[in-house]
Amino acid sequence: MSGEGSSDEKTDPGAIRHGNFINYYQFHERVRQLPRGVWQRRWDAHPARKYAGLDVGCNAGNLTYMLYDFLEKAMSQDQPEISLIGVDLDPILIERARECNRHPDYLTFECLDFLSDDCGETLRKHLAQLHKTRFDVVFCFSITMWIHLNHGDDGLEEFLRKACDLSEMIVIEPQPWKCYRNASRRLRRVKSEDFPLLKELKYTGNPTEHIEDILTRLCDFRKVTITASNDWGRTLLIYERK
Ligand SMILES: C[S@@+](CC[C@H](N)C(=O)[O-])C[C@H]1O[C@@H](n2cnc3c(N)ncnc32)[C@H](O)[C@@H]1O
Repeated sequence: MSGEGSSDEKTDPGAIRHGNFINYYQFHERVRQLPRGVWQRRWDAHPARKYAGLDVGCNAGNLTYMLYDFLEKAMSQDQPEISLIGVDLDPILIERARECNRHPDYLTFECLDFLSDDCGETLRKHLAQLHKTRFDVVFCFSITMWIHLNHGDDGLEEFLRKACDLSEMIVIEPQPWKCYRNASRRLRRVKSEDFPLLKELKYTGNPTEHIEDILTRLCDFRKVTITASNDWGRTLLIYERK
């Protein structure tokens, strides 16, 4: 994968500050890591059998499409009507995601900063259209580091609180600490300003542990499962509302 873990000069994304890499691929392994049996926990309470998901930091939508296909298969016995909305702060990536939308009735993409008030409002409207108050699942793949680097420890807490407030279940793929160092090194290498909050972070060393602590202590979520790590060294944390 280009970006977070790679040191290949040709794919070095240099001054990328939010993880908004233009060609960010190699998704198969990560969808394969998802367990099959945990998704239908609460959706069947919905009278119209709608299952709604949110993909935060959806980039160009490639993983969002795969998540849609995955959920369709994982819940094929119950056949809920699945819809996903992807949000990303980069307008070019959202344009790309929209261009190749195979299921425009069920997949939508919005250019929004997840931490902005606008985003909260748009997502609540989206849920209201589906006659829901929360998403059944929120996916946060490879975004927590970028939130943490740009918004500090408080920003990471705010991000997780917001995501949990909006959902029944959350799936997080945290980046390990070595990726933080790589992101910072890449900026310095192109003589760009380092992440100003990096030195002030208290949640260092093992981001996964801090995220789990925030989910249980501040968001009142409980663990469903944690997957084994893939050959990229990442695990998926799956938590749900108590
Ligand atoms: C490293 S990419 C991960 C893409 C995708 N989730 C995946 O794992 O394949 C991180 C994405 O998060 C987006 N992002 C970073 N901060 C964001 C924010 N505050 N609100 C919305 N998107 C954000 C970036 O633009 C980027 O596309």
